[in-house]
Amino acid sequence: MIGSAHRALGEQVAREVGVAPARCTIARFPDGEIHVELGEHVAGRDVFVVQPTIAPVGETLLELLLVADAARRAGAARVIALVSYFGYARADRRTRAGQPLAARVAAALFERTLFDRVVAIDLHSAPIEGFFSIPLEHLDAVPRLASVLEEVLPERAVIVSPDLGASKRADALAARWRLPVAIVHKTRVSGSDVIAREVTGDVSGRRPVIVDDMISTGGTLVTATEALLAHGALDRPVIAATHALCVGDSIAKLAAIGVERLVATDSVPPPSAPFDVRVVSVAPLLADAV
Ligand code: R5P
Repeated sequence: MIGSAHRALGEQVAREVGVAPARCTIARFPDGEIHVELGEHVAGRDVFVVQPTIAPVGETLLELLLVADAARRAGAARVIALVSYFGYARADRRTRAGQPLAARVAAALFERTLFDRVVAIDLHSAPIEGFFSIPLEHLDAVPRLASVLEEVLPERAVIVSPDLGASKRADALAARWRLPVAIVHKTRVSGSDVIAREVTGDVSGRRPVIVDDMISTGGTLVTATEALLAHGALDRPVIAATHALCVGDSIAKLAAIGVERLVATDSVPPPSAPFDVRVVSVAPLLADAV
């Protein structure tokens, strides 16, 4: 079953598994409510629903829950959510009093009454796994990203983590290719603004290959690139991330700082850009989990 958030990925997963996607109407009532209607008999069948919970997150999430409920009520044997990108994952802790723990709230919606299992890819942090009350299979897309990145690594590369959160990912990739690693120490000021406090590691005379779990506004990568250039790094960074949400004018901002290439998965619909974009599909990963 394919939700409306990313049909191309759902169709690719179905091809990998060797089945035709189940028919399911997803439309709107005149008042904006979501109308779901299955067009297949699913009684006694295992139903896999492909849906990244991308913006508008409330809508894509609710749509996924409605499809699951429809499948349950139609007698599905098991219902499994294939959530290639899990919205609200970054809200895995409260940064100030008065805030909700949104990642836990979103995870708690995946109840046993609707789903038997949820499959997710490169969640923002491991503790999110504990927010789910049903079995979660947490897939790692980094090996797939790395295999494409490896083909386009520039000469004299340095692998860079644009914040502490991605440092393990950067460290593992640097070790894999025996390249130096650097970390930009970032402080988030707002949803779109970050500042770089310092750069750890020698980046002078090296081409940055900046790796992160996701790109949203592009603010993290722009700030990291500026800090790296100020520390003597060469220009034309290569960037790599699992989830290239690339909201708003992020692509223009990345182009303006001279990004040469983006390597990303299709966990969300990949962006088009004036620079080279290499997309590696997560469909085989999801198909293996089916
Ligand atoms: C933050 O911890 C994440 O790993 C990403 O660095 C961040 O979410 C990217 O967001 P943006 O592109 O808006 O800076």
